[in-house]
Amino acid sequence: MYKLVIKGGIPLSGTIKSAGSKNSSLPILFASILADSPLTLKNTPYLSDVSTTLRLLMDMGAEFVLESDGSVCVDSSKLNNLSADYELVKTMRASILSLGPMLAKYGEAKISLPGGCAIGTRPVNLHLKALEELGATIMVKNGYIYAESDNLVGATIDFDQVSVTATENIVMAATLAKGTTIINNAAQEPEITDLINCLKLMGANISGTGTSTLTIEGVETLSGATYTVCPDRIEVGTYLVAAAITGGSITIKNCDPKDLRVVLDKLTDSGANIVTEGDTISLSMDGKRPTSVNIKTSAYPNFPTDMQAQFTALNAIADSSSTVTETIFENRFMHIPELLRMGADLTLEGNTVVCRGVKSLTGANLMATDLRASASLVLAGLAAKGTTTIDRVYHLDRGYETIEEKLKSLGAQIERVQD
Ligand code: EPZ
Repeated sequence: MYKLVIKGGIPLSGTIKSAGSKNSSLPILFASILADSPLTLKNTPYLSDVSTTLRLLMDMGAEFVLESDGSVCVDSSKLNNLSADYELVKTMRASILSLGPMLAKYGEAKISLPGGCAIGTRPVNLHLKALEELGATIMVKNGYIYAESDNLVGATIDFDQVSVTATENIVMAATLAKGTTIINNAAQEPEITDLINCLKLMGANISGTGTSTLTIEGVETLSGATYTVCPDRIEVGTYLVAAAITGGSITIKNCDPKDLRVVLDKLTDSGANIVTEGDTISLSMDGKRPTSVNIKTSAYPNFPTDMQAQFTALNAIADSSSTVTETIFENRFMHIPELLRMGADLTLEGNTVVCRGVKSLTGANLMATDLRASASLVLAGLAAKGTTTIDRVYHLDRGYETIEEKLKSLGAQIERVQD
């Protein structure tokens, strides 16, 4: 296993380019199951979750080629194994996104229940109920989902709760269903818009993109296409906080500022000077200590839960007190005990962290637990006095492309070393 060793206290400066979105790439790769010919994805990020998805598709009988420019050409048109085994699914919950496409294209699927993870129980009841409303027969036995359908029939799906991947699963299933599917209370994350844009390029008939009501007219077949994945707004947000927490000044290219409006507003409130120009975002903190900002996460277009841990780290060294409330996941606070070990003054009250800013944190030996909690520990280490080590770096590699290289290019003193 590997760990990161960070020597903190250096204000970041320089320019980096964002990677393609992890949470777009995963559903779009699974959408290749719907196509009768190869799908080529450009700007795919180099992440372990993407490799896991390609391995899962390969186990199902798909073939893929990694092009020299980093794009991935995947042909999932002749699957011969309609199952996703526990051994792979347990490492990546998003494997549930193979369920809708497999049902729509092949009429059957056997998928391991994803199980929970560090941030919560992560049920999939909304996915299963909605697929049954499209006519699927679903049975859950021995930790697996067994799904069958002669042919899916369009229906009106009313989600009791907003769910990103449940919305994505139903959109994909509905593209080949007979008739019209209307999804009410659909999630509106930019990654869903990206998936829909790719599906339409493949021949799907979808309207309402970017709203909470989606209408999908089933079509006979979908073909492959060539599609460029949108920038990863959470990666961009994380690096912007890295600049803010170290009092630095950076520029990030290949962004889509409109997907980050709420995060940029919060960074401005924390004292950062933000300039956006086309696909470029620049942030400068000019050495200032951050101003405390109150955060409450909820579904897009509100403050993203995937940026909660990062802002908790920023608030930990801010100039006064603040609250950070998590409303999406029940246990997205695994970073708190580790930040406390660095001298942060944080108190968890229910689903709210009360942050009393301290002047500085001190480096410590830390343990990564889940993707975004681990990112917040990196940010804290970059700001802290002294040296911080972070074990189990594989959590970070799921969602951040060569994180130490990008941070080094911004002046950070950070190394990846073997345990
Ligand atoms: C997606 O997860 C993202 N993952 C998550 O990003 C992100 O944090 C989350 O959306 C919220 O924005 C991918 O896109 C691959 P949900 P998802 O279904 O779809 C409950 C990261 O860091 N729920 O929108 O699994 C659920 O427990 C990851 O990149 C049910 O109760 O999240 C949660 O409380 C972490 N039943 C709420 O809904 C269901 O069937 C929202 O979860 C489904 C969800």
